[in-house]
Amino acid sequence: MKIAIACDHGAFDQKVMLVDYLKESGHEIVDFGLEENRTVDYPDYALPVAEAVSAGTVDRGVLVCGTGLGMAMAANKVPGIRAANVVSTEFAKLAREHNDANIITLSGRFTEPELNRELVRIFLETEFAGGHHIPRLEKIAKIEERSSQ
Ligand code: RB5
Repeated sequence: MKIAIACDHGAFDQKVMLVDYLKESGHEIVDFGLEENRTVDYPDYALPVAEAVSAGTVDRGVLVCGTGLGMAMAANKVPGIRAANVVSTEFAKLAREHNDANIITLSGRFTEPELNRELVRIFLETEFAGGHHIPRLEKIAKIEERSSQ
């Protein structure tokens, strides 16, 4: 898969680790930074990843900050984005099966690197279940349409 990734200063080391892991797993990475650890504003890094996913130039996105919360909030403002802040293997699976999440957001401060690797693996390998979840996603899309008018 082609995967866009970015982080802020709350998760620099974990982003480096995840890039290595994803490359070793055979994925193509588009890295939107940070390139070195410095204090930044997470929306500036969520935006290019969310826009790449929304435009379809990448398949999925991975965003990492201190909690993953700010990255999710920012990414979810971009049309077509369903970013899920994930802290457990169950959430990683359900974010895909029920919500067809196209971006995973992770905590660099409260989740251990080994678990984050596993969360990303599950996020990338799990298929959307479809079926009765489809009309719910269509309702989310309608909210988005209404809000942009
Ligand atoms: C940065 O200190 C921190 O606020 C950020 O990484 C993230 O946790 C925001 O949601």
